[in-house]
Amino acid sequence: KTRCWPASTRVSLNKREVGDMGMKLILLGAPGAGKGTLASYLIEQMGVPSISTGNILREAIKNNTPLGQSAKEYMDAGKLVPDEVVIGMLKERIAKRDCKSGFILDGFPRTIPQAEALDEIAHIDCALSLEVADDVIEKRMTGRRVCLRCGATYHVEANPPRVKDVCDICGDKLVIRSDDQAEVVRHRLETYHEQTEPLKGYYEAQGKLKSIDGAQGITATEKFAVEALGL
Ligand code: AP5
Ligand code: MG
Ligand code: ZN
Repeated sequence: KTRCWPASTRVSLNKREVGDMGMKLILLGAPGAGKGTLASYLIEQMGVPSISTGNILREAIKNNTPLGQSAKEYMDAGKLVPDEVVIGMLKERIAKRDCKSGFILDGFPRTIPQAEALDEIAHIDCALSLEVADDVIEKRMTGRRVCLRCGATYHVEANPPRVKDVCDICGDKLVIRSDDQAEVVRHRLETYHEQTEPLKGYYEAQGKLKSIDGAQGITATEKFAVEALGL
């Protein structure tokens, strides 16, 4: 079976060793495919941080910074924030020390220019694509609740918090994302098919693409990911 990292590094994998190997993983997938949910599981399994450009942007909006002010209108319309803005933001983030021994990218890259910029600054080991049909996604989004403080994601049925509308991790109040209204979701799906889905071909050409079924529930998706990544 093919693996995402060199065979020579396939030793007994405890968290520390995986981290030391520097696995650099991209999670690809439509809005609501479950990238953030899978990332929070893989952080534990791989012992590396996860970076969500969406979470960074939402935090900037919450804090009303210049970055947030410029990003808000794009996000609320279901469009992508301009490449130069997110590329700069991502470079700054992966230059931090905690990314030295690997990372998971959730929501970056989303365009070919972003992927090319990433190739200049990091050696990516694997792009894991979560495959979920659009109609499944539209249903999922109505039940999503998020914590804007720590970025945790819940679903009223598939993954409810212990206490209704309260974050298990930090205790903050859970909210519905402003871009989760049905009409914006449809727009985000269009944006995904037009601008982000071509990245599958980009990473396939580099021999780095793995695709898994993301429509079978959270535990099943975790299992497929572990198998695909050889964890
Ligand atoms: P971002 O925050 O990245 O949103 P997204 O890509 O649209 O993805 P989501 O976060 O909506 O979904 P997800 O795949 O993380 O799914 P989740 O795990 O939450 O980006 C937001 C915006 O920021 C973009 O539209 C753009 O404007 C801007 N932006 C961000 N990055 C950018 C970039 N690089 N370039 C330009 N602009 C950028 O799961 C969804 C729901 O389903 C949850 O409720 C969850 O509990 C549930 N769930 C998850 N998995 C399963 C499962 N297997 N079965 C059942 N339910 C499940
Ligand atoms: Mg997300
Ligand atoms: Zn929280």
